Amino acid sequence: MKVSVTTQKRDLLSIADVADLLPHLLDRAGAMRARRRSGDLGPTRPGRNAALIFEKPSTRTRTSFEVAMHDLGGHGIYLSPKELQLGRGETIADTARVLSRYVDVIVYRAFRSTDMAELARYATVPVINALDDREHPCQIVADLLTLKERWSGGFQGRTLVYIGDGNNVFNSLVQGAAIVGLNIVGAIPEAYRPPADLVESARRFAARSGSTVRFESDPKAAVRDADALYTDVWVSMGDEADQARRERDFQGYRIDEELLRLARSDAWVLHDLPAHRGLEITDGVMDGPRAAIWDQAENRLHAQKAILEALLPPRAGDPRPD
Ligand code: CP
Repeated sequence: MKVSVTTQKRDLLSIADVADLLPHLLDRAGAMRARRRSGDLGPTRPGRNAALIFEKPSTRTRTSFEVAMHDLGGHGIYLSPKELQLGRGETIADTARVLSRYVDVIVYRAFRSTDMAELARYATVPVINALDDREHPCQIVADLLTLKERWSGGFQGRTLVYIGDGNNVFNSLVQGAAIVGLNIVGAIPEAYRPPADLVESARRFAARSGSTVRFESDPKAAVRDADALYTDVWVSMGDEADQARRERDFQGYRIDEELLRLARSDAWVLHDLPAHRGLEITDGVMDGPRAAIWDQAENRLHAQKAILEALLPPRAGDPRPD
């Protein structure tokens, strides 16, 4: 796919923002992974700098973005609110204005999607959502790459069943699956389903791609004929006050060996991590032969590289992508 280049900045706040680019990102991330394994880091964006603002902890997202910037020939600067004047009351708008004078892209993990939108509004460089309370779009590029590389026939006719909390990860996943034509079932208790506007967005994408978006309350019924199962923690960062109630409400929504047996015998299991082993997923499933979880974690790196390369405009003298 030929990607058009404009001088206008392009943000990635929702997976819907890159609906047109998603097939390219998946192809490019797969190619970058193959090149990296043969020793070619693919430094196609030399000299670029990224500010990585993380208001919450992160193992995968922070590390994969730092390594991705290094691979591309640039540099990532990790900034926690404690180190920034943001933590002492400087506004998000002023922070965006100033950082845009130093760096080429801002990667932001925020508590609130309203803060994400505010940063993007005032930044003159692209802003990438590294998770907020509404979406986790970069995760979904890695997830779809993980499934794409396992299904040589593509996404059409395949069914992904997500089991558990209809959280920020699911909000991006349901739209991402619909964009690429993958059927998705949310086995999610009614009280934990996503906001109506996100479901409508997913259904609009599904109508275009010829896929389906469904919800189920019974995980056992949902997983019959599933080609892949996906889960995430029941208590996300910021939901800790609700831990006891959530653990009660999600009883029966664990991916264990019994539930996996009800899916197709070649079904893959995904988890975006970190996992709470024994709660939403058992050790036996996580460490078993159907888990694609470790490739999924690795794919965060290749996905971030493809995303950064696509959003950082090329300059004269940049090595051409292969
Ligand atoms: N999946 C994910 O975003 O992991 P981290 O919180 O470790 O970045």
